Amino acid sequence: MEFPIGLRNAIEEKVIGLKQENLKKTAQTISERYKNQSGDGKKLVATETEALVYSLVRMPATFGAVADAIQYAVSRSQLQIDSLLDAGAGSGAASWAADYCLELQSITCLEREMEMQKIGQELMKEGSDILKNTRWITTDLVRDPLDYKADLIISSYVMNEMKEEDRMKVVKKLWEAAQKMLLIIEPGTPVGYKQLMNTRDLLISYGAHIAAPCTHKAACRLAKEDWCHFTTRIQRSKMHKLLKDGEVPYEDEKYIYMAFTREACTPASARILRHPVIEKGQVTLEICTEREIKKVTIKKNDKEHFKAARKSKCGDEIDLAR
Ligand SMILES: C[S@@+](CC[C@H](N)C(=O)[O-])C[C@H]1O[C@@H](n2cnc3c(N)ncnc32)[C@H](O)[C@@H]1O
Repeated sequence: MEFPIGLRNAIEEKVIGLKQENLKKTAQTISERYKNQSGDGKKLVATETEALVYSLVRMPATFGAVADAIQYAVSRSQLQIDSLLDAGAGSGAASWAADYCLELQSITCLEREMEMQKIGQELMKEGSDILKNTRWITTDLVRDPLDYKADLIISSYVMNEMKEEDRMKVVKKLWEAAQKMLLIIEPGTPVGYKQLMNTRDLLISYGAHIAAPCTHKAACRLAKEDWCHFTTRIQRSKMHKLLKDGEVPYEDEKYIYMAFTREACTPASARILRHPVIEKGQVTLEICTEREIKKVTIKKNDKEHFKAARKSKCGDEIDLAR
């Protein structure tokens, strides 16, 4: 996934003249906070420098995860999506990803922290006309009523910051505001998976359908200690490598997502749950289907499926349920 070059340049221009050591320290502080204080409803990014460093260090990864999730979700639902509500928009990564993937007519960003809004608004000046015209509204998703509606609501890396009881209240509000789809993206961790499974149960009880990644609405068939997640690979800039002490020129972001729709949609017949194992003359995939989770080995002589399997990656759907 290619992070928009205009956005990358706009972020990096903002750090010109700032001390690298300070930026690095701030990146470490934010990372520690996310590790230790997520899920308490606390402010995790609040100052101007923290918002800037968040944009530098995290926006490429969250952009990539959201763009992947939108593509998977939209390919299954065939919805015409004109309006976006980005709930807990931060510096706007999900809006950039939606603008990249969809033909949007309008974007509204809801965010609690002023410094995040400020940098988000400045960065969007470098984007499309739709991004430039984005409406930003100061909102606390937990405390404030949600008086806005949109075809697509995205909550990207937000729910994991909330307490469980608040999360469920916010999910309900966001679902009521979603005219066509609610897309939730979270870190691809066991905790992220568990939280999203609770959300899944709640929204199914409200009559929601699932466009992706699930292939059915029944209880998840993964073993209790197992969890499902996907990965997106993002090219790293020189500055990103320096701040994160990265050695390779890319980062692999693990994420989990779920796309809930109002209208019934046709889920994938099979979705790949792990990295495909490619060996001489065969590819082995672990797939989730409506009936089961199973491993399938596709041999070279099954030309059509072999070609698709060789090109596939974890998270992709594949027409293999047999
Ligand atoms: C990790 S950032 C994610 C930002 C952006 N969605 C992204 O994917 O890069 C989480 C954002 O959610 C916001 N947030 C957390 N709780 C919130 C709440 N109750 N109301 C509004 N925004 C909230 C935070 O201020 C922060 O900007």
